[in-house]
Amino acid sequence: MTDALEYDVVIIGAGAAGLMCALTAGQRGRRVLVLDHANKVGKKILMSGGGRCNFTNMYSTPENFLSANPHFCKSALSRYTPWEFISLVERHGIPYHEKKLGQLFCDRKSRDIVQLLLDECRSGNVEIRTHSPVSGIEKCDSGFRLSSNGQTFYCNTLVVASGGLSIPKMGASGFGYEVARQFDIPCLPTRAGLVPFTLDERKLRDLSALAGVSLEVHARTREGLFRENLLFTHRGLSGPAILQVSSYWAPGQDVALDLFPDYDLAEWLRTQRRERPRVHLKRLLAEPLSRRVADYWCDRHLGNPLMADISDQEIAFTVSHLQPWSLVPSGTEGYRTAEVTLGGVDTHALSSKTMESKLVPGLYFIGEVVDVTGHLGGHNFQWAWASGRAAGEVV
Ligand code: FDA
Repeated sequence: MTDALEYDVVIIGAGAAGLMCALTAGQRGRRVLVLDHANKVGKKILMSGGGRCNFTNMYSTPENFLSANPHFCKSALSRYTPWEFISLVERHGIPYHEKKLGQLFCDRKSRDIVQLLLDECRSGNVEIRTHSPVSGIEKCDSGFRLSSNGQTFYCNTLVVASGGLSIPKMGASGFGYEVARQFDIPCLPTRAGLVPFTLDERKLRDLSALAGVSLEVHARTREGLFRENLLFTHRGLSGPAILQVSSYWAPGQDVALDLFPDYDLAEWLRTQRRERPRVHLKRLLAEPLSRRVADYWCDRHLGNPLMADISDQEIAFTVSHLQPWSLVPSGTEGYRTAEVTLGGVDTHALSSKTMESKLVPGLYFIGEVVDVTGHLGGHNFQWAWASGRAAGEVV
């Protein structure tokens, strides 16, 4: 064993959580090594937010997270708030803006956030090795022994920050769950979250004329309700409203889409019938919807009558089909396109203050590998920063 291969802390995964943990521990004077099997660090940060990284959300609260243990995330989130990360971004002179709903994006590129993390790691003398898959971990007297690229590393503390299963071609792996299982730490079943829905072939053919249409809706599953945009695609349904509810969806359940979130539709149609009797139904519905959606719906149901000729029954039929419009997805696009992985390391087995395993002292899990998953809009990075910080302060 040589001195060069001994560290206080080894972190597996140079993503958002791993780098935040590394810079925090490094700046406390700990000798930190980060190992990542990918060819460069922070790949998901680079691709996030359409290349502009939605790095946090000003209104992030514990209610923006899903977990089998909803209280778990509170401690870390309250100790490292969005404002702490925003002030770090400002200290680095990174220009940013609010897009909507408290979502903060870089004005330039996501690269700014990766550079910030790397600069902070450098000032903490953190060593980062890419192209470094970890092939074995063992517990030893002084902590842990790891092998990577034929070398052996010793550390007192091991932090698993290897992320979830989404976007395998970006280096995602189930490695963190394997480490947990190796040490008898329970994991909850995983599934893709923040992911588009697919539709069966018949429905897809039926909806093909709407591909590319985007409109604001209320999307609801049994437990989730979001007001955002829906996008019809050639594969099914996408857009922020759909990504949000996908995290609350289970196979076989329907998704209820209210296409008129601001309207008492029955009342509105009755008023229009009275005040604009010579307007055709398609033209009327195209005003709040879009022409393509109005044509699609009228062609399949009521045709294109004058409003004057529409009966109360037809108004009731329209309301019951459009407010909400109920669709049963055939599935999701899965980890290939999902932004996050739901489930993962069971938080009951971790300290909510430090992220340390209750069963294996010295072993920590942070970021997406843990069963804490945020809504769309910068919350997932906020969890990565907060959980990385919580561990980095104590390792
Ligand atoms: P992350 O996945 O970032 O990092 C894990 C690291 O571990 C990777 O570098 C990986 O290579 C490495 N690794 C994996 N297995 C390994 C092994 N066996 N050995 C060594 N290294 C290993 N969130 C948000 O808040 N705002 C946004 O704008 C977006 N946008 C977005 C877009 C897209 C397309 C995706 C897929 C995801 C997002 N997200 C997001 C989600 C966000 O990217 C995600 O929640 C965080 O990156 C999670 O951070 P972690 O550090 O936990 O994992």
